[in-house]
Order: sequence, then C-alpha cells, then structure tokens
Amino acid sequence: MALWAGRLSGNIDERLNALNASIGYDSRMFAEDIEGSVAHANMLGKIGILTSEETKALTAELAKISEEISSGALSIDQSAEDIHMFIEAELTKRLGTLGKKLHTARSRNDQVALDIRLYLNHQSIELNDLLKQLVSTICDIASKHLESVMPGYTHLQRAQPVTLAHYLMAYAQMFLRDISRLVDSKKRLCIMPLGSGALAGTTYPLDRQFVCDQLGFNAITANSIDGVSDRDFVLEFANILSIIMMHLSRFSEEIILWSSWEYQFISLSDQFSTGSSIMPQKKNPDLAELVRGKTARVYGDQFTLLTMMKGLPLAYNKDMQEDKEAIFDALDTVKQCLAVFSPMLSSAVFHTDKMKKAAQEGFINATDCADYLVKKGLAFRDAYKITGQLVNTCIKEGYTLDSLPLALYQKACSAFSEDIYQAIDLIHCVNMRSVEGGPSPKCVFKQIADVRHTLQSL
Ligand code: ARG
Repeated sequence: MALWAGRLSGNIDERLNALNASIGYDSRMFAEDIEGSVAHANMLGKIGILTSEETKALTAELAKISEEISSGALSIDQSAEDIHMFIEAELTKRLGTLGKKLHTARSRNDQVALDIRLYLNHQSIELNDLLKQLVSTICDIASKHLESVMPGYTHLQRAQPVTLAHYLMAYAQMFLRDISRLVDSKKRLCIMPLGSGALAGTTYPLDRQFVCDQLGFNAITANSIDGVSDRDFVLEFANILSIIMMHLSRFSEEIILWSSWEYQFISLSDQFSTGSSIMPQKKNPDLAELVRGKTARVYGDQFTLLTMMKGLPLAYNKDMQEDKEAIFDALDTVKQCLAVFSPMLSSAVFHTDKMKKAAQEGFINATDCADYLVKKGLAFRDAYKITGQLVNTCIKEGYTLDSLPLALYQKACSAFSEDIYQAIDLIHCVNMRSVEGGPSPKCVFKQIADVRHTLQSL
C-alpha cells in the first residue's frame, strides 16, 4: 500500500502504477536522497522537533541504508513508487514511528527538487574530470605536432597554413569553455530548496541555512513556489551537455573525414575501429560516427525538457517527473562518449606527411604571396589580383606557387624577386603567423602551457 494512503485507499490500478512509478529510473539518486534526508533530520534535531537521540538514530539508520544499497546488501523494491518513498518506507520498517517523523516539514516536492540538484552537482564533478582528461590528451598530442604543417580550411576548401597542434588546440579551447560552463552553472545549481514544502513553505521554524551549509550549497531558494517549480537548472545542465556533444560531434566529423581515403590524415587504432561484414577492405570510424549520431539524442533530451516545462502552471506538476529520464539519458550519453573519445585520440596515428602534402598542393600560401607584394609597396587589392592570376597560371601550367619559375612571377609583376620563394615557404608562413592566438609554434607552445595551467585551476 502506498505511503500516501489515507484520503485514498492507496491501491491504484496497475496500469496507472506503471505510468506513475519512477523507481525504475530515480533510484540512481538514492545516495543524494539520503544525503538530503540526513541534513533535514539534523536540522529537525537542531530546532528541537527531534530529540538528539532520535536524530542520531535516524541519521545512523539512513547512513546504513545508503551503505547497504551501495554494497548490494539491500535491493531496491521496484514496486515502490519512487526512491523517496522506498527509503522512507525502509526507514519506517526498521525504526517504526521514528521513521515516520523524518518527513516532518518536508514534501516530496521540495525533496525531489533537492535530490536532482545534489545529483547533478555530483555528476558535474565526474563530467569535469572526463573533460579535463580529454583536454589534457589533446594538449599531449598537440605538443608533439607544433611544427606539423597542415592546411586550415574555410568552406572545406584549403585556405591558409596552420599546424596540427594549432588545429587540435582549437578543440581544447572549446572543451575548456565547456568545463567553465559547468563550473559557472553551479552558481544556480547549488541552491537549497528544502523548506519550500509542497509549495507554500511550512509553519515549522526551520533553519534552512543550516541545511544549506551542511550540504555545501551556495544559498537557499528565495521563494517557496519557485523552489519546487524551478527546473531551469536541469535545462541549463542539458544545454551544457548539448554544447559538449556539439563540440564532440564537430571533432568526430573531422575524424571521419580525416580517416577517409580522400584525406588519409589519420589512422584510428584497430581497437577503436570496426570492419564491414561484406567489404573486406573496410576500416570504419564507427565510434566517431556514433558520437556524432548520439548528439541528436542529447539535443532531443534537451528539447524534451524545454517542451515538458513550457506550459506548466505553478507550482509542482507531475509532468516534472519526466525531467529525470531526459537528463539522465543525456548525462549517460555524454559520459559514455567522453570516456571513449580520449583513448580513441591518443591511440590514433596522425599522418603528418599527408597533411604536409595537402598543404603544399592547395595554394594555401597565396595570401602570403599577396602580403609579399604589399611589403614591396603594392596596395593589397592589386596584390590580391596579381596573386589570383598567378594561381590561375599555376593551375593551367601544372605548377604550385613554390615551383612556379621566377620568370613567370616577374611577368605578372616586376616587384617579384628571388626572395618570394622564402616568403611563401610553408614553415616560414606558419612561423610568421605569430600574432597572439596564431599558429606559429611559439604561440601554440604558449597556448598549450596556458591551457594546462588553466586545467589545474579548474
Ligand atoms: N517522483 C516524483 C518526481 O520525480 C516525486 C515528487 C512527487 N510529488 C508529488 N506530489 N506526487 O517528480
């Protein structure tokens, strides 16, 4: 029989139960539910609603239940409505009337709001570690490729020379921002809602700040209706997860392209590739494709949450129970993807010879050729036009800018002399791009050091 039996008989239709019960997915919050209950019980003891013996007995039994669930000694009864009901029922089974006192001045509405906040806070720490590991893997790879020239692209057309290190560090910057988003979101996540009750607070003289301090949260919610109705923090978390997936997905797309026969910039290790059931030659980047594919799923979860909330009148509505499956699915997906991404990268082989060849063939030093003429006194637009014509000549005659004879350069513009070859040399072009944030090995070396330093402070 349900704990809320009284006004109702407590026996609900089995089909309603199947829809109503959330124990199948919210039991993963058992530790947080107990953490919140212990803080609540301590506070009830502090304000004299429970005696100190009662408080001790309650908190000790709650701790025991938590340990037993963790170790597997106590299995969660799947016929309970949700994890909150299960733990309260278990406590009451063990302590009798005392167990029934725990829920004084508390509603499941403020209880569940606290539990999700605690749970996401813990998950945020795990995500942080996974992201840090990824950024540090990228830094390790980048530091080996400070001078590995490759073409940078715009419109997926070869554009200007960069290095593999510079390219990879662009992703490190994105993941670093993801970490900072997670850290920043704690300002709004770690707010303590207990005391909001069902929606209208409570007549008991609760010490809400005491509960907040015990849980290590930043502040208490300022409005009891908002305290039980707010799920912005779940949405914000889902948004951060979506952005992480968007970054992973772009990176995956590059890996998929780079491992194609057309690019051949990268070979994934056999452990992180799959074969085809029919084509014996195939080595497929399934992992990267799945990460790209699963991005859709995380976006879907975010959309579920936004849509679930958009029409809800204040305060708590049962619709809000749907937040859990969506955010849990998004979390699980992101964690799974992050966990495989780092080893996939660190076990991959980057073919810098192929990258260099692509860099030599794409006229990516054309801007440098134009800049050379500017340094000789031409206006940039004129220099741009002359260089464009030279590229045309190269394509027609089968040259690159590096192999185009000086006579042809000089035919296009008399300002060219022998030093043009040095000016458009790829390594030289990269070295010259030494503006802060640029691809020169010196700049990227500093960038890697800065990122590693930032990682330590996060
Ligand atoms: N399982 C519910 C949820 O996840 C707990 C809150 C239930 N509150 C209620 N008034 N029925 O949202």
